Amino acid sequence: MEIQLWREILNPYDLAVKELTVKFEHLIQEHRQQGLYSPIEQVHGRVKTISSILDKAQKKNIPINEIEEKLEDIAGIRIICQFVEDIQKVVEIIRSRTDMKVIEEKDYVNNMKNSGYRSYHMIIEYNVETMNGPKCIHAEIQIRTLAMNFWATIEHSLQYKYKKNIPDHIREKLSSAADAIIVLDQEMSQVRSEIMDAQNAFQI
Ligand code: GTP
Ligand code: MG
Repeated sequence: MEIQLWREILNPYDLAVKELTVKFEHLIQEHRQQGLYSPIEQVHGRVKTISSILDKAQKKNIPINEIEEKLEDIAGIRIICQFVEDIQKVVEIIRSRTDMKVIEEKDYVNNMKNSGYRSYHMIIEYNVETMNGPKCIHAEIQIRTLAMNFWATIEHSLQYKYKKNIPDHIREKLSSAADAIIVLDQEMSQVRSEIMDAQNAFQI
């Protein structure tokens, strides 16, 4: 397919990623301006590259004309939280928004993948206005803690290095690191509740 055609296809996804990133960043700003704790710490967004769209379509046997309906992560948003409890808050914020329609949810936070991967995934429908009028697209939102993101980032680099065939002894290390991340997030949550308790005591 010609590069110009790809540009036309990917343009609405690019717009959606930009809009969604701005919207979530604004939520952070609104909280901070009011002196409130923000359940969102950072937001990242990306449009899948043409080569990884083609790779995935080939692997999943998706014809090129069905890419838009079948590949739900062409537009990807990643929301990073400080604490595990924040993830649920962000999920509820997204569920209650009128500009995003949740069509699928996967809870890998409480149901860790075999790899050790943890994150909360939501697929949404989102409307953008293009030169040719309105268009409804899919976007994948991944919500995870800083610690879960640390693990996923390292594991992703290793997948890249080993072309998805990570050797067993490294897999074992990643698996025990994933268990350590669970404990780390739990311990951080305890610190968080101490802070909240202290704030409450101060207010009284
Ligand atoms: P995909 O073909 O990847 O879309 O599989 P799926 O439709 O079952 O989606 P799933 O929710 O399992 O994963 C989608 C995305 O989550 C991936 O594109 C990655 O960004 C991330 N992900 C899933 N599993 C892993 C993992 O084991 N390690 C890392 N680092 N990321 C993962
Ligand atoms: Mg997917």
